Amino acid sequence: MKRENIYIPNLAEIKGIRRETPDVKTFQISFVDKRLRNNFHHIPGQFLEISLFGFGEIPISISSSPSRRELEVSVKNVGYVTSVLHEAEVGDIIGIRGPYGNGFPVDELRGRDILFIGGGIGLAPLRSLINFIFDNRGDFGKVYLLYGARTPEDIVFKDDIEVWKGENNSEIHLTVDHADEEWKGNVGVVPTLLEKISPKIKNTIAIICGPPIMIKFTVKALLERKFGDEQIIFTLERMMKCGVGKCGHCNIGEKYVCIDGPVFRYSELRGNPDLGF
Ligand SMILES: Cc1cc2nc3c(=O)[nH]c(=O)nc-3n(C[C@H](O)[C@H](O)[C@H](O)COP(=O)(O)OP(=O)(O)OC[C@H]3O[C@@H](n4cnc5c(N)ncnc54)[C@H](O)[C@@H]3O)c2cc1C
Ligand code: FES
Repeated sequence: MKRENIYIPNLAEIKGIRRETPDVKTFQISFVDKRLRNNFHHIPGQFLEISLFGFGEIPISISSSPSRRELEVSVKNVGYVTSVLHEAEVGDIIGIRGPYGNGFPVDELRGRDILFIGGGIGLAPLRSLINFIFDNRGDFGKVYLLYGARTPEDIVFKDDIEVWKGENNSEIHLTVDHADEEWKGNVGVVPTLLEKISPKIKNTIAIICGPPIMIKFTVKALLERKFGDEQIIFTLERMMKCGVGKCGHCNIGEKYVCIDGPVFRYSELRGNPDLGF
């Protein structure tokens, strides 16, 4: 009889690799076991625990939409395990546990305008939901995207962004911290892009993903614009080990980011000293 062990990863093959920026790559992955391949389901905003055998395991958001066939993750090369993944080639085998975490409240978003606010690699989980929304266009209202990167060459998902610009009822604004000679767009931090849009606040949900400092100042700017605490959603990153609520590595106060999150409403964490806002 097979004994279930939640810590044993399933084998998956890297089917494709796309370079997004100098330090971000998107990996297309496919389970080796056909039954897993056919029965895998996820909610935008959920993450996987990815193992590089002999090196370690890391939590990574799913960047593809459940409305599409491919399963994709987009990974920034920041350290030990991510650098090993960046050296992987098509055909290599990795391990996968998950999907884990709560994901975005997709059903509650139906009929609403959605204001996405992303920074850097934080666009990865947002991409999953943005593509899901555009694949189910009639179910959702206007889509805004405010996105910032360090430099123009650090902008991830450039092909997707071009497609999103052409979508019905969408408005997209980009900014960079440091422009190059060709950049004609905005320069400055992401929250300043809020000045460029006039959302109908009552019917809008804001969804933020990016570095903690960006989340902090964006939440502040949204509150000043009279967004309600329930209308502000963000995804958080914490150091993780198990991913399933057992090890206690990822807690913020009484919440575990791996099982209570990584998607939270501002109303859930308001005033939490660990967050600083
Ligand atoms: C729920 C969740 C979803 C994530 N989704 C993505 C994603 O889609 N794409 C992506 O590129 N990264 C994502 N991350 C971050 C990713 O897990 C870390 O970058 C990775 O674990 C670093 O591993 P490493 O061995 O390469 O780095 P290390 O050598 O361990 O560390 C390098 C640097 O990264 C920092 N770091 C390590 N782990 C984390 C972590 N969990 N969160 C933040 N900083 C960390 C360390 O403090 C150090 O400064 C996510 C993290 C979480 C918790
Ligand atoms: S990562 Fe182990 S409890 Fe969250």
